[in-house]
Amino acid sequence: MQPARLFAAWLTIGAVPFLLLLGLMLHGDLAPMPGLLGIAVNAAGAFMVAAIWTHDIELLVETLRHAMAGGSALARVAAAPRIPAVARITRGIERLSRSLDSRASEIGALLRANDAIIERLPDPLLVLAPDRSVQRANAAVRAAFRDEIPAVLRNPVLREAIAKAWSEQATQTVALSLPVPVEREVQATVIYLNPPLADGGQALVVLSDRTRERRVEQMRADFVANVSHELRTPLASVSGFIETLRGPAADDKAAQTRFLGIMAEQADRMRRLIDDLLSLSRIELVEHQPPAEKLQLADLLRRVVAGFEPRLAERQTTLVFEAAEDLPMVPADADQLTQVATNLIENALKYGKVGGRVQVSLTLPNPGGTWPAGAGVVLAVRDDGPGIARAHLPRLTERFYRVDKARSRNAGGTGLGLAIVKHIVNRHRGHLYVESDEGAGCVFSVWLPVRG
Ligand SMILES: Nc1ncnc2c1ncn2[C@@H]1O[C@H](COP(=O)(O)OP(=O)(O)O)[C@@H](O)[C@H]1O
Ligand SMILES: [Mg+2]
Repeated sequence: MQPARLFAAWLTIGAVPFLLLLGLMLHGDLAPMPGLLGIAVNAAGAFMVAAIWTHDIELLVETLRHAMAGGSALARVAAAPRIPAVARITRGIERLSRSLDSRASEIGALLRANDAIIERLPDPLLVLAPDRSVQRANAAVRAAFRDEIPAVLRNPVLREAIAKAWSEQATQTVALSLPVPVEREVQATVIYLNPPLADGGQALVVLSDRTRERRVEQMRADFVANVSHELRTPLASVSGFIETLRGPAADDKAAQTRFLGIMAEQADRMRRLIDDLLSLSRIELVEHQPPAEKLQLADLLRRVVAGFEPRLAERQTTLVFEAAEDLPMVPADADQLTQVATNLIENALKYGKVGGRVQVSLTLPNPGGTWPAGAGVVLAVRDDGPGIARAHLPRLTERFYRVDKARSRNAGGTGLGLAIVKHIVNRHRGHLYVESDEGAGCVFSVWLPVRG
């Protein structure tokens, strides 16, 4: 108990009766003896009342302080109040604080539930703060856009939608076309929240990836156009031979054998074309999802290279493979990278020179090169054939683009091999480089990131 407070309370309670008694005494209305006695009794009584009050009020203050600190108010103050009304008040405060505590923990649980819902929602979702900065990005948006979230938010169409959501305080929906790192069609919905979220979030931005739907539409159109064009020639040839076999060559055994051979070749060509188109469309469907597993590419390439052994004699080609020691694993889809290596080596054999040498290598990017930033591994396929004229290089990976159509067809090519390579490399967030000097062969290099 603080003596100063006790003294002040004593004075406040005792001062008026004391002055009254003193006045009466001085005026002669009260004899000195009873007067002094009255003053002493008043002083003692006032002291007792002041002591009780100060004690109880300090208890009350203490109880309130505990309650406000949020701690269990009930880490109680040792003594009990002496005035019954004060005792009731302290009990009331304790009950109030208990119910506030349980409400606070309910609110905490609700906030955590909100957080968990936003975090685990399968839709890519951003929460924007009142100043339009990103307050939160949920797991789906982090997986889909990784480090590109700031770039997505700089998209002018999205920025305008956000500004409009703010000025009109209403939901806005826009279609975005994101060019990097792979082209994506995204529907962005900006939901302005009024009132804002408990954590201050002012708007939600839902980024739904529509690439797949758009791509399927586009692919269907491409497929029909390309396939009809590419299939027409072999089909016309097969129909022609059927006519001939039915008519003029009906009795010519030798011609029949020859024509059936050609027809089988044409059918084979159609089958290869369809296989390549299907594998291209399958890759395109997953192109925006990088592969999840990590692989040691040296083993995979060794197997691919070994698979070419039986075909080397035909063109008297030497095929060598070398891999640098201790290369890091890279995120990769084994089937797709097998396809990349197969297509590049096949081209080197087909278009390289007879009796030439094809080198397949797996290395770290050499420091002088124009590789992307970040750790990577480079798969290169080099041949010493006639090479490719510079003018063709930018278009090589287009579907059905061939430098020499007749030669490609004769070699059983569909014109889709490098398009498939490009799409697989894109899916791996890698880069394909083609270097060639006419007459000096070419090098196809695939740079793959170590961190996908
Ligand atoms: N190593 C190479 N040397 C020379 N030309 C090549 C080489 N690789 C590819 N090409 C050219 O690029 C074209 C496209 O290759 P690709 O997409 O694999 O189709 P395809 O092999 O079915 O014709 C080929 O037709 C060929 O003209
Ligand atoms: Mg090819």
